[in-house]
Amino acid sequence: MTILVTGSAGFIGSHVVLRLLDRGETVVGLDCLNDYYDVELKKARLARFIEHPNFIEARVDLADRAAVEAVFATHKPDKVVNLAAQAGVRYAAENPHVYVASNVTGFLHVLEGCRQHGVKHLVFASTSSVYGANTRMPFSEHASAEHPLTLYAATKKANEMMAHSYAHLYGIPCTGLRFFTVYGPWGRPDMALFLFTKAILAGEPIKVFNHGRHRRSFTYVEDVAEGVVGALDHIPGRDPHWQGAAPDPATSGVAPYRLYNIGNAEPVELLRYIEILEHCLGRKATMELLPLQAGDVPDTEADTSDLAADIGCAPGVSVEEGVARFVQWYREYYRV
Ligand SMILES: NC(=O)c1ccc[n+]([C@@H]2O[C@H](COP(=O)([O-])OP(=O)(O)OC[C@H]3O[C@@H](n4cnc5c(N)ncnc54)[C@H](O)[C@@H]3O)[C@@H](O)[C@H]2O)c1
Repeated sequence: MTILVTGSAGFIGSHVVLRLLDRGETVVGLDCLNDYYDVELKKARLARFIEHPNFIEARVDLADRAAVEAVFATHKPDKVVNLAAQAGVRYAAENPHVYVASNVTGFLHVLEGCRQHGVKHLVFASTSSVYGANTRMPFSEHASAEHPLTLYAATKKANEMMAHSYAHLYGIPCTGLRFFTVYGPWGRPDMALFLFTKAILAGEPIKVFNHGRHRRSFTYVEDVAEGVVGALDHIPGRDPHWQGAAPDPATSGVAPYRLYNIGNAEPVELLRYIEILEHCLGRKATMELLPLQAGDVPDTEADTSDLAADIGCAPGVSVEEGVARFVQWYREYYRV
């Protein structure tokens, strides 16, 4: 089977590509290698599989309509995993337009490619950030999520709604995955674990927002990759029992569409996460304790009962094990 994976040089994308190649799929990896963070790290991730006989690279910007059309026309993917996006909640203050170009216009180009070429299943990345102002824990896909607190979250919520409309109108099965704070080897340099590790090793202070009191469903990247590949195999259908009642946000009923959380069900306090990191590095952090930043959600906790029941996945790598694996990778990669 040919699977188009967008964001293939990214943190999560590179892990997903490796998993798909390992089980014998042909993978078309689309990524523009933008310079939001260190391009060398993206190239190093790509180097892990670029020579694989079943990997085809497409260095394309999702916002380039003609180029995306050409990728679909040339490779005719059976299924698509959309992970390319402008990620990060804070960068929107500097560059809001790139969020709409990559996450909204780019996503429309993916949906159109799926429509024109009869793609059998589109799996796309959403985020726990869509829960925004929700406070009822754990966050459930069956609850409405109507109050995003950042532009990033708003674009991801837009993805969910755009996918639902295409699933309904054109019968394209779509599955949206709401990832919860992903961490692990080959991680993103703009995320806390990476920033903390770099600063602690350099003997510099780390910025700890909300005085370190928030709790997060920190989710190990291999658990996420397993969930993505598992979801790809479960093509949603229309609900045969749906009788025109108000649709459930997670299952729709009117369209072949599903939403799943992918997160560790055991949230951990940020201060505990830092303590584990200190232990793995064998060094103490100097902490600059700061208030919660605008747009940040204090706590996240994933309800993963649907993911377990339908896909058979239960993200369970502990932070002790996951942070240790990250630190081992970081030390090897940066030789520190
Ligand atoms: N890492 C997390 O904690 C997390 C949490 C929730 C959701 N997500 C979502 O998961 C997906 C993957 O995230 P990640 O952490 O791997 O991020 P990442 O930034 O490492 O990967 C995204 C990749 O997409 C590429 N890209 C961005 N815009 C593009 C465009 N217009 N055209 C082509 N390529 C483009 C980038 O070059 C990058 O390699 C994203 O959709 C993100 O929003 C991530």
